[in-house]
Amino acid sequence: MSDVTTILGLESSCDDTAAAVVRQIGDAKPQILSSVVYGQNDLHSAYGGVVPEIAARAHAEKLDTSVIEALDEAGLTLKDIDAVAVTAGPGLIGGVMSGVMCAKGICAATGLPLVGVNHLAGHALTPRLTDGIAYPYLMLLVSGGHCQFLIARGPEDFSRLGGTIDDAPGEAFDKTARLLGLSQPGGPAVQAEAEQGDEARFRFPRPLLDRKDCNFSFSGLKTALLRMRDQVAAEKDGLTRQDRADLCAGFQAAVRDVIIAKTRRAIALYMEENPSQPTVAVAGGVAANTAIRAGLETVCAEMGCAFTAPPLRLCTDNAAMIAYAGLERYKAGARDGMDLTARPRWPLDNSRPALVGSGKKGAKA
Ligand code: KG4
Ligand code: ZN
Repeated sequence: MSDVTTILGLESSCDDTAAAVVRQIGDAKPQILSSVVYGQNDLHSAYGGVVPEIAARAHAEKLDTSVIEALDEAGLTLKDIDAVAVTAGPGLIGGVMSGVMCAKGICAATGLPLVGVNHLAGHALTPRLTDGIAYPYLMLLVSGGHCQFLIARGPEDFSRLGGTIDDAPGEAFDKTARLLGLSQPGGPAVQAEAEQGDEARFRFPRPLLDRKDCNFSFSGLKTALLRMRDQVAAEKDGLTRQDRADLCAGFQAAVRDVIIAKTRRAIALYMEENPSQPTVAVAGGVAANTAIRAGLETVCAEMGCAFTAPPLRLCTDNAAMIAYAGLERYKAGARDGMDLTARPRWPLDNSRPALVGSGKKGAKA
């Protein structure tokens, strides 16, 4: 077997259609030869969330183009590829099916091996692709669709320490932005307002901090925001720019405090089991939030852990992470057949009860 492994990856589980080529020579640092992402924000913006049928149709339309562009950008043809990796779940079923069918078509036509990848494993393994961190490590996934702590021990060996029981944090940022008339995606807009605001003026709850577990709940924050917004607006006949900034600052401080406190707990649990490997990594769009990121860096430093955050374009949904997770599985001998199915739910850790949260971006388990 050649020492060079080159994987074509496909991703279509939510609202990004993506294809990428990743190559590894021996055990050297893997290289991203190309990474193409077609977002669908424009298609869904009028509806206030991702519409599964529109997403699936757009994926079906864009997958072939993405694959052709990813191969072109890498300067390769399918003859240079060793295997096709595809997100087989969890996610919006129509989109996942589009990707799986596309990958099966390529494999049927070329005879290439097919490797199904769990989307969450793609996110969770990204720090190995970008920073080469060794197993085990503690992973915090915080995005518009996901929120969980995982101990990563191998490409198919994860333990979930906790996660959201309702909304994901990015979803809470997006809903907050909508309630305050700010643009989507809400995270960057709320952060920009929060930077001008006073976080102490409105006291938001810190959900589930009284519980000693690593679970989150974010849906109550939007109800609190709605109540405070309406109260202020009624008193003054509308919101001022400062009111809006203060509401954003109070909301963001609550999300930050809860994430930091739960991370402290997750690190303590992780360190009991892995005292000699103090490594923490974060991924997902919410990791772009400067207040949350600074808080995570501080808590990791206080607890003696190294902190890794992949560059944002690889924290958010992309196919390079799927190609890389596929590469690890492929090198470990994993192959899937034409009976590979699309799975809307696919927990990384089957030993734990499924998380019940399921919001605008589909399943979170
Ligand atoms: O990982 P991602 O691209 O998509 C998935 O959900 O899979 O994350 C997008 C989410 C959105 O909800 C967006 O509002 C949030 O990440 N986000 C942020 C920031 N930038 C993006 N949330 C808070 N602060 C930010 N600066
Ligand atoms: Zn994702």
